[in-house]
Amino acid sequence: MSNIQTETQSVTYRCPSNIALVKYWGKKEGGVQLPANPSISWTLNDLFAETTVFASPKKEENQKVEFFLDGKPKPSFEPKIHTFLQRISSIVPVVSQWDLRIESKNTFPHGAGIASSAAGFGALALCMVDLEGDLQPGSTEFYQKVSICARLGSGSACRSMFEGAGIWGELDSIPGSSDEYAISFPFEIHSRLKNWKDAVLIVDDGEKKVSSTQGHDLLKSHAYAHARFEQASKNLTELSEVLQNGNVERFVELVESEALQLHAMMMSSIPYYLLIRPNTLAIIEKIWAKREEVHWEMAFTLDAGANVHLLYNSEQEDDIMNFIDAELLPYCKNQLYLCSAIGGGPLKLN
Ligand code: PMV
Repeated sequence: MSNIQTETQSVTYRCPSNIALVKYWGKKEGGVQLPANPSISWTLNDLFAETTVFASPKKEENQKVEFFLDGKPKPSFEPKIHTFLQRISSIVPVVSQWDLRIESKNTFPHGAGIASSAAGFGALALCMVDLEGDLQPGSTEFYQKVSICARLGSGSACRSMFEGAGIWGELDSIPGSSDEYAISFPFEIHSRLKNWKDAVLIVDDGEKKVSSTQGHDLLKSHAYAHARFEQASKNLTELSEVLQNGNVERFVELVESEALQLHAMMMSSIPYYLLIRPNTLAIIEKIWAKREEVHWEMAFTLDAGANVHLLYNSEQEDDIMNFIDAELLPYCKNQLYLCSAIGGGPLKLN
């Protein structure tokens, strides 16, 4: 039974961002934010949003929602939040009875080109389900409901609830997998792939010319869509095996191929577009040349933007950091890169 509330309540959650290894790109027809193919991501422990929600009983017919980012009002985000609240109102009905003040901040600079929506909607969904008070915070049922709500804000956000790796989308080879919510990777990850980290090399910090929402939509009439969805499912089945058996060489191949396939889909959509920049390619070529030379355990991946995520085995951290400083920083905007361990999961802060 939901809380019957007479005064203002508040809750604060920290929610990490994530980086997909097998990419979600394209939505299923006939649902809200259901993925056309399954995906898997690593949780980025150190790149997170912290959100506080103050909920008080609604004073007027129209719900009042205020959103603050880093202490400043951001009315431009409010339409997205209204859509999110409207979508979750059948799952968390009590939200429509509240006036809301939402205060959020990220550990990564806003406009660094890092997808903040996964962490942001993840944190907001955590706060809403907690404030509803129906489920024990931290329980499996709690995270399942949060994951459903987060998905309705931003698809990839639903994978941010899990320590290590999250899988979203139904796949026979993954027990318990679902299109409605993400689950924690259900197998033991091999020690060779357990202690990896991510260095996000910032190539472009501007607004994307084509949003993810528009990009997903273009898959509806894409000549290669069906083949891509099949390939993603196969890649996820194989990547799941690789994460368990520790075959790093194949891990690198699958992850890099997924990143390039994502951007190949953008380049072959109608209208076609490019989000990678010359410095994205320069960094990728440097990574390939270095790996050829020294055989370090590292792989690049990309999200829907120009930045390069360099995933690497943390046992080689000193070498990799020297490599970044010496050879990759010249290609980074304002010499900026952000590092994160893989792992973590959400945290309740009050
Ligand atoms: O969650 P969205 O709608 O922003 O889509 C995210 C898409 C990618 O980041 C490119 C891939 C993924 O699986 O996270």
